[in-house]
Amino acid sequence: MNFKITLIGGDGIGPEVTESARVVLEKIALVYNHSFKFNEALAGGCAIDACGKPLPEETLTACKESDAVLLGAVGGTKWDTYPGDKRPETAILGLRKQLGLFANLRPAKLFPTVLGDSPLRGDITEKGIDLIFVRELTGGIYYGERGRENKNGTTRAFDTETYTDSEIYRVGKYAFELAMQRRKNLVSVDKANVLESSRLWRETLHNLSREYPQVSYLDMLVDNAAMQLVKAPSQFDVIVTSNMFGDILSDEASVLTGSIGLLPSASVRNDLFGLYEPIHGSAPDIAGQNKANPIAAILSAAMMLKYSFSLFDEALSIENAVNTALSNGLRTADMFSASTKAVSTAEMTQHILEHIEKK
Ligand code: IPM
Ligand code: MG
Repeated sequence: MNFKITLIGGDGIGPEVTESARVVLEKIALVYNHSFKFNEALAGGCAIDACGKPLPEETLTACKESDAVLLGAVGGTKWDTYPGDKRPETAILGLRKQLGLFANLRPAKLFPTVLGDSPLRGDITEKGIDLIFVRELTGGIYYGERGRENKNGTTRAFDTETYTDSEIYRVGKYAFELAMQRRKNLVSVDKANVLESSRLWRETLHNLSREYPQVSYLDMLVDNAAMQLVKAPSQFDVIVTSNMFGDILSDEASVLTGSIGLLPSASVRNDLFGLYEPIHGSAPDIAGQNKANPIAAILSAAMMLKYSFSLFDEALSIENAVNTALSNGLRTADMFSASTKAVSTAEMTQHILEHIEKK
């Protein structure tokens, strides 16, 4: 099959890990006889430097003309003093919004080979962790009205959390459908004891739950969810939540599975198009040093194969190769410990490449 992929390396370690994912995709194309056409586009700080804005028109057009987008990471200390609406991060927010990617899937799965990398006690991890966040991605406080006011010598800043019932309904529906394909267990996370937007969230999810009697459904307050993720993560299958809560809780969940450097994500809508990116940031402190963990980006490419191209065997062969590298004891610096073998980005990528095979 033929697919067009836009690659957006971005900033910091973004270009390195995206390159790792690209060569893995090339290998898949070779082994399984597909053709992937890549085109590179700029977004984030590098786009500010090259053309004065974080999300150039050409980049958006390139994405719209592709079957899927693979993104590294954006942002860095160099642009940290830029005003809010000119920061590199606005590129990601713009891409999500303008491409209509309302659901962000963030799986946190504990590979059996990295049990020892989890900061949790063995009696907790032995029950397994295999959960997925469905984070609402184009609404909430990320996109609500914000600003500053000066009055009588006092400066006031505000950000607004807003949700419409239809925004909640479409992401809720996505989560219920996903739960149906998995262990049929859905937890919706909100702060309905305080926030009105959360009360609408809860009401909408309750109404939806009547359409899915086979799914066991539970509401959980976000503070409790933060605790439960550490205390008993095996209870979770699918977790649906707002943009902000999903941002925070998915970082928490990522570290339970060993390292944030392992976790991919998919930003999707109701057709096959998607944007795939590691959940980690641009890590400017280790950029260009061949130290970054390429696994999150490589697994993001696997999600692309699965969700946008319906190439399930191909996705599985990437996941297996990653698992092999980890069980062979290979670890990049973010996960290195005395009993493992420290490898560079390039060495990890090479090892994974060598283990990609057709089943
Ligand atoms: C993420 C990131 C982004 C977010 C930033 C870079 C804008 O933290 O994808 O989780 O907050 O959504
Ligand atoms: Mg985040």
